[in-house]
Amino acid sequence: MISSLQLPTYPQELEAWWWQKALTKWSDHGEEKILNLLRREIVEQSDRFNKKRIFDLGAYGSRDLSILAYGNFFFPRTWYAMNLCLAEAHFFRSWKKSQKGPIRILDLGSGSGASSFAVLQFLNNLDLDNPIFLNAYDYSGKSLGFLEQIHGALKRLWAKSKIQTKRLDLTSNLTKEKNQKYDLILMGYSFNEIFERREMEEKEKWMEDLTRLLSSNGILIVVEPANKKSCQELHSLSSQLISSQNELFLHAPYFNNHSCPLISNSSKYYSHEVRKIPITNRVQKINIPLNLEMNQVKFGFCILGKQKPKSYAFDSTICRVVSPINKKKGTLNFIGIGGNGMEYRYEIQRRDLKNDETKILTKLERGDILKIKNGLVGKDLTLIRVPNFESVTWPFAPRWEKA
Ligand SMILES: C[S@@+](CC[C@H](N)C(=O)[O-])C[C@H]1O[C@@H](n2cnc3c(N)ncnc32)[C@H](O)[C@@H]1O
Repeated sequence: MISSLQLPTYPQELEAWWWQKALTKWSDHGEEKILNLLRREIVEQSDRFNKKRIFDLGAYGSRDLSILAYGNFFFPRTWYAMNLCLAEAHFFRSWKKSQKGPIRILDLGSGSGASSFAVLQFLNNLDLDNPIFLNAYDYSGKSLGFLEQIHGALKRLWAKSKIQTKRLDLTSNLTKEKNQKYDLILMGYSFNEIFERREMEEKEKWMEDLTRLLSSNGILIVVEPANKKSCQELHSLSSQLISSQNELFLHAPYFNNHSCPLISNSSKYYSHEVRKIPITNRVQKINIPLNLEMNQVKFGFCILGKQKPKSYAFDSTICRVVSPINKKKGTLNFIGIGGNGMEYRYEIQRRDLKNDETKILTKLERGDILKIKNGLVGKDLTLIRVPNFESVTWPFAPRWEKA
């Protein structure tokens, strides 16, 4: 089985909380009628995220129906994305919270809190002594109201935390936040919305101001939708930021402070994760007629931090998988970005693999981090021939426990 790390699944209490909210809101409706209401709204939201891309306060943050549709359907997926990023920061990149004193978290464009709660619960599971303070900002007061309610109702999941919410238009107000430093700054699928149709220069300036709010070992985790434009933009931006600030480093998705090479070359691929997630019963039920792809989460992300990142081999012996695992011409092959920030194609002959070994390797996911031993290089220095199954190990290939 492929797994370097088993992570706990999305909490059932959260799933139940959102559904209970819907039942309370439409107490005179039967289950099927509520499901249909939510489904219609989900189709709208899906179009808004993927096609129309019109975001304003009236778009979905101001109506109960929209928030309940998001909460019951999309919330777990966002939760999984942020959960995974923090797992990478903590277990693979060695992000350490401060020894004592509070852990301060800032969630920007928090909405009703999918990213906030993924992080609060993750920290709660680490059983830390530190108190945890989370500030959640969004221009949707209604969403923030839901966030507060969830926090209060499910206290067991984030026992040591206190939260504060603020209603704020983030395009203009960030610069006022100067004195407080944060150990974790989160932006879960919000950056692209906040800065839709804005100039790159403005985005850069804003991000630069934001990174100044990081504490000395703080990290900023930005998760974006997996469309090419958002991902390429995120990686251009992070590359720009580390070259203009001496004390800012890129911890992930790649290695040794290297930016994403796929922003400037003509690769078929661009940086993003494709992760299988356990689908909750409620999402499954809502999704029956919609048939949306809810058993995986796709997203682009980066982690920026003030401390020098952990060091890895500066070559092709470590890589992050950025393509599907393809079966072609008698080989299994995939594209990976190596420890030197270069794009490599890795190939393993299927005749050198037993059936169960092939099965295992095809379960590798886009985003897994692999170590490759004894890879052979020929004339083409970007092609790595992997001799056998034993040459491949996966130091970071997290999976969630079965629901
Ligand atoms: C896709 S939602 C993501 C919500 C949340 N981060 C999550 O993980 O589920 C984007 C959020 O950004 C907020 N947003 C968009 N533009 C904003 C702005 N100019 N100022 C503040 N919040 C904004 C929206 O209200 C919404 O809650």
